[in-house]
Amino acid sequence: MAELTLKQVRKSFGALEVIKGVDLEVASGEFVVFVGPSGCGKSTLLRIIAGLEETTSGRLTIGGKDVTYAEPSERGIAMVFQSYALYPHMTVAENIGFGLSLARRPKAEIAEKVAAAAETLQLTHLLQRKPKALSGGQRQRVAIGRAIVRDPRVFLFDEPLSNLDASLRAQMRLEISELHARLNSTMIYVTHDQVEAMTMADKIVVLNGGAVEQIGSPMELYRNPATPFVAGFIGSPKMNLYGGETARRMNCTTYGIRPEHVRLSEGTGQWQGRIRHVERLGADAILYLDVPELGEMIVRAEGETPFASGMTVWANPVEGAEHRF
Ligand SMILES: Nc1ncnc2c1ncn2[C@@H]1O[C@H](COP(=O)(O)OP(=O)(O)OP(=O)(O)O)[C@@H](O)[C@H]1O
Ligand SMILES: [Mg+2]
Repeated sequence: MAELTLKQVRKSFGALEVIKGVDLEVASGEFVVFVGPSGCGKSTLLRIIAGLEETTSGRLTIGGKDVTYAEPSERGIAMVFQSYALYPHMTVAENIGFGLSLARRPKAEIAEKVAAAAETLQLTHLLQRKPKALSGGQRQRVAIGRAIVRDPRVFLFDEPLSNLDASLRAQMRLEISELHARLNSTMIYVTHDQVEAMTMADKIVVLNGGAVEQIGSPMELYRNPATPFVAGFIGSPKMNLYGGETARRMNCTTYGIRPEHVRLSEGTGQWQGRIRHVERLGADAILYLDVPELGEMIVRAEGETPFASGMTVWANPVEGAEHRF
C-alpha cells in the first residue's frame, strides 16, 4: 500500500484554481521530488499534504488513513522550509528539542532524541552554540534536526537549500540523500533546481500550471519526456527545442535534441552553423551556435574542444537521441 496518496486534489484561492486535480502515489520510504517553474503550485501541494492548506476537493491518505480533514499535528508529518527560522536566543540543542519541550515530553527523552538527531546530522560539537555562530549549512541541518526528533512518517522539504551558496548546496544535497538512505523514511522534496531533482529523487513529479505534467524516475524523464515542457525542464543545459515551420519540415510539432547529443564536425553534416560563443568549463565546453535552418543551438562537447567562436561547423544529432513531439 502506498504511504501517501492524493486523489484528484484541487485547490482554489477565490476564483483562481491553482491545483487542478492532482493524482499521486508515494510509496513508503520513497524520495519524491516536485519540480516545476515558479508559481506552478509546488508549495501549495506540499502545504496541502502538511495540512497547512485545506483542499477545495479531493482526498488525501497517509499510511492508509484518510487525513483530508485531519489537523497538521495528527498527520505524522514534519516540514522543513527554505527559511529555517531558528530561535536566535536558544542553543542548537534547545532549537532541535523545542517542539518536544512544547509537547511537554520528559527531559530525558528530549535529551536522548536531540543527541541522536545531532549525531545523525554531525551537529554534536555544536549543540551549545547559538544560531548566529553557525554557517548556513549548519543552520539548515539544525532545521532538519527539528524535523527528525519528531520521528515523522513523512518529511516534507520546501526548497530547503535555495538560500545556500553553490558549493554548500552540493554538499547538503548529498547529506540529505545520505540521511534518507539512513532513516529510510518517506520524503517529499520541492525544488526548482533540476540537478537536485535528478540526483536526489527516486521519483520526480513535474508540475506545470497546477497539474501533473509527468511522473517518473529521473532517467525515465530524461530519456522519454512525454512533452516538450518536461523535455525542456529535465537536463542541463536545456534540450534544444524547435517548433513551427522547422518542426513541420521534420514531421512533428516540436523537435528536440539535447546539447550532449550533438556532435560537431568541420567536414559535413546535417545542419551548418556558426559558433557564436564558447564557454570552456574544463571537463567540457558549452558552445552556442547560430544555425540558419533552426535558430540557436546549444552543444555540449566533452573535454577541450578544438572549436572556437567564429568558426563555421556542421552539427549532427547522435543517432536515436532525437525527440519528436
Ligand atoms: N494564499 C494564497 N492566496 C492566493 N493565491 C495564492 C496563495 N498562495 C499561493 N497562491 C498562488 O498559487 C499559485 C501557486 O503558488 P505556490 O506557492 O504553490 O507556487 P510554487 O510552485 O511553490 O512557486 P515558487 O517556485 O515560486 O515557490 C501561485 O499563482 C500563487 O500566486
Ligand atoms: Mg514555493
